[in-house]
Amino acid sequence: MVEPFSRFRVWCTRALPGEALERLAAQPDVSLDVWREPGPPPREAMLERAPALDGLLCTLADRIDADWFARASELRVVSSYSVGLDHVDLAAAAQRRIAIGHTPGVLVETTADLAFALLLASGRRLAEADRMVRAGEWGTWEPDLLLGRDLHGATLGIVGLGEIGQAVARRAKGFGMRALGWTRSGRAVEGVEPVSWGRLLAESDFVSLHVALTEETRGMLDREAFARMKRGAILVNTARGGLVDEVALADALESGQLAAAGLDVFEQEPLPAGHRLVQTPGVTLLPHIGSASVATRARMADLAVENLLAGLRGTPMPASALAGPA
Ligand code: GLV
Repeated sequence: MVEPFSRFRVWCTRALPGEALERLAAQPDVSLDVWREPGPPPREAMLERAPALDGLLCTLADRIDADWFARASELRVVSSYSVGLDHVDLAAAAQRRIAIGHTPGVLVETTADLAFALLLASGRRLAEADRMVRAGEWGTWEPDLLLGRDLHGATLGIVGLGEIGQAVARRAKGFGMRALGWTRSGRAVEGVEPVSWGRLLAESDFVSLHVALTEETRGMLDREAFARMKRGAILVNTARGGLVDEVALADALESGQLAAAGLDVFEQEPLPAGHRLVQTPGVTLLPHIGSASVATRARMADLAVENLLAGLRGTPMPASALAGPA
């Protein structure tokens, strides 16, 4: 007797830019459902869907924790439309031998561009200047209006020298900056002087974060770290909000210990209304758009779909964080 043809049941928690989801829907062995309500699916919807899925294509706004994995009894693969995987409980996935895919590589240059945009915006006070013009508060040309800090000739401390940190270092060279780099592994990168954590904090005019959020890195920019930084230094974070103690950061900005901060990521996203950082002087705030260019978001969707299909079909993923069963 011929077995009835069964398809892999896949849920994608958001409509994604580009044409990748159309390609996924056209696969003969896939039955695709896409969450098309505004915003990410609420927790109840996530839990309700879990038992009937072979594959999940999620974003960094979805929490894929041990409880969720426990319900997903048929699951083979989670493919995340992100490079960071701090929203996925990798230990729980490993225990169940679930394949996990993500999107490194394709977003490197776009994210490094945004880090540089924030370095410039924070150094030269662009958001503040824009607000002043819109508010009709630009009286006349003033010799001391909105004086900022130069990038050229300044020292940039790069925390983490993975692909994005290295792409930031290449841009720093073009901007005439001296680049210092800190990594736990002590990795050497051309054009970057490897330094200790203490030296990076003490000597950098700008510090830019490019490490993953893990239990070791959580809160690494804390009160003590801010106190060790140069007075008037600038912090840029395009990595993960949890790397920074936001209360200590707001205190450091208000006391003048830091001159400015450019933040694309926050401990809680979206940033809650009335959050202290909204009122803190010298802060440029962005809504987690590090990889948000048309081309890059489409490439991320392509890679996420390729990872998903490989995980379902039991072939090697182009970008896996955890391989599934051998
Ligand atoms: C963005 O933050 C990502 O992890 O892709």
